[in-house]
Amino acid sequence: MKIFIDTANPDEIRKAYEMGVIDGVTTNPTLISKEGKPFDSLVHEICSIIGKLPISLEVISLKAEEMIEEAQKLSKIGENIVVKIPMTSEGLKAVKILVGQGIKTNTTLVFSPAQALLAAKAGTTYVSPFIGRLDDISQTGMELVEQIVTIFENYQFESQVIVSSIRHPVHVLEAALIGADVATVPYKVIEQLIRHPLTDIGIERFLSDWKKVPKK
Ligand code: E4P
Repeated sequence: MKIFIDTANPDEIRKAYEMGVIDGVTTNPTLISKEGKPFDSLVHEICSIIGKLPISLEVISLKAEEMIEEAQKLSKIGENIVVKIPMTSEGLKAVKILVGQGIKTNTTLVFSPAQALLAAKAGTTYVSPFIGRLDDISQTGMELVEQIVTIFENYQFESQVIVSSIRHPVHVLEAALIGADVATVPYKVIEQLIRHPLTDIGIERFLSDWKKVPKK
C-alpha cells in the first residue's frame, strides 16, 4: 500500500520524506489555509521537497468549465500534479474531460460506494473516500472502503482508492488489510505508527546493558 501524507505543512512533508515512508502528498483548501502562505509559493516549496512524487491540489470552482480551467492551470505546475475534483455531477463532467486531456484527477469527498463507482466510470485516477468523517457520524467508514475495493476488483476499474480522513493508526492497518491502493495519513498518525512502547523499552535496556560491557 502506498502512503501519502495528508498535509500542506512543508516541515511535516520534509520529515516524512526524509524517512522514506511517503509516496505522495494530498492537500485540501483547509490544509492549505492553515499554512498562512500564498498558494503558489507554498506549492512550489512542497514540490521542491517531494520532487516527482504526486501531490493532490483541489479546485475551488463548482462548474465543470471553471474546474477544467483551474485544473489546467494547476497541472502546468508539474507532471506530478493530481487535481482534486469534488464528487458532483459537474465534477464528473470535469473528470471525464480532464482525464481525456491526460490530467490526473482525484475525486474527493466520496461518502458512498455508488459515488465511487460513478467516479471510476468517469475515468478518475483516484477516488478519496473520507472514512473519519463517516466514523464521526456513527457510520463505519472502513466498510465503505471494503465496498469500493470490491467493486473496483469486480470490474477491473483502474482508479485507485485513497483512504482519506484517517484519524488513527488502526485506520491505516485496516486499509492495508483490505488492500486499498493508498492511505493518506496526517503527520501525527505517521508518528503514532512509528512508535511502540516495547521498542522504547528495548532501546533503553540495550543502552543500559551496554554500559556494563567492560571497556578494556
Ligand atoms: C483527503 O485528501 C483529505 O485532505 C483529508 O483526508 C480530509 O480529512 P479530514 O476529514 O480529517 O479533514
